[in-house]
Amino acid sequence: MLAKKTIVLGITGSIAAYKAANIASELTQAGARVEVVMTESATRFITPLTLRSLTGRPVVTDMFEPATEYSLEHVALAEAANVVVIAPATANTIAKLAAGIADDMLTCTVLATNAPVILAPAMHASMLQNPVTQDNLAKLKARGFTIVEPGYGHLASGKAGWGRLADIETIIGTIKQVLGRKDDLSGKRIVVTAGGTQEPIDPVRHIGNRSSGKMGYAVAEAARDRGATVTLISAPTSLPEPVGTVVVQVQTASQMKEAVAKAAARADVLIMAAAVADYQPKDTAKNKIKKETPDLTLELVRTPDILAEVKGDFIRVGFAAESENLVANAKQKLQKKQLDLIIANDITSTGSGFGADTNQVTLIDRKGKVESLPLLTKREVADRILDKVVKLF
Ligand code: CTP
Repeated sequence: MLAKKTIVLGITGSIAAYKAANIASELTQAGARVEVVMTESATRFITPLTLRSLTGRPVVTDMFEPATEYSLEHVALAEAANVVVIAPATANTIAKLAAGIADDMLTCTVLATNAPVILAPAMHASMLQNPVTQDNLAKLKARGFTIVEPGYGHLASGKAGWGRLADIETIIGTIKQVLGRKDDLSGKRIVVTAGGTQEPIDPVRHIGNRSSGKMGYAVAEAARDRGATVTLISAPTSLPEPVGTVVVQVQTASQMKEAVAKAAARADVLIMAAAVADYQPKDTAKNKIKKETPDLTLELVRTPDILAEVKGDFIRVGFAAESENLVANAKQKLQKKQLDLIIANDITSTGSGFGADTNQVTLIDRKGKVESLPLLTKREVADRILDKVVKLF
């Protein structure tokens, strides 16, 4: 995704400028060619040498200094960019961009580029809240700039407020999303479910399962990175919500069914990676069950089968978690649930299944074609699944 992409990283004069070093480092490690452009004031906060060392590329600070292959002709940098990211972006630079002012290398580059531009503002809360800044941001958004909203937290003034540079993961997630816009799932709406549903017994207890949600989240992120519009319907997990996706948090199978029905109505693809409980307590106790009786019997009833029951015209992808007769059981599920593709995994094999970062799966399509993949990271598995989905369109 980031490999071989040219990313112009603009750094402006905010105390958060030091965080740009991490962004530059992560993007470079992911294989991107990172061209750093710093404003004069940014160089007061962090040295060009730091960025040059991290990116292995010359850093542009002065339009008139013929030190780099780009500085004589600023348009060349604008043309080479696959994306321009300004992080941190100060109120001053945002105002200049909104007004079309081009008085340094960074603002010239933005004015001259056809590449998408991402701004990650960082400034004191009062400057951010000033209507002028808000108007400028709205204007740039309307022109197609992507704004990575600043967060709430400790500011350089010592006070807490809005204006803190967004997390590095959020900024990098946004870069991936923007770069993916033209990829093979561009324009497609994909609904992904993830995590294990929880069926409440009483206000403190539930029946759950060991799903970590990692597989579904990896599918959601991969689809996002390939340009899809992603709705992630998630049962409780401990994972951060993927940037650039619409996340619907649910708890029970019934809630997931409702959320899936709503989202799938407009979907091109439904990928059910969630581990949905098959049974739920017949009644949920209103109050905490006390241990008054020596034994407790719970009556369980079936939950709805979301995948089998959801209506609509879209590509249906299911998972089959099996501990025996992998292919035969998965084929049966594919038939029974009228799926286009099923991903079978043997939950007993090492390195696969619940909680792991890797997975070893077998893909079976509706024509009965069986493809066993080697042990891969969940992200790699996600991309292999999406390769198949692309072919199904
Ligand atoms: N699934 C679903 N609704 C359910 C149970 C499962 O939509 N109530 C989906 C899962 O998300 C998965 C597929 O159906 O994509 C198969 O799930 P799995 O648990 O392997 O199979 P089950 O149909 O539950 O059958 P069994 O538990 O008997 O193996």
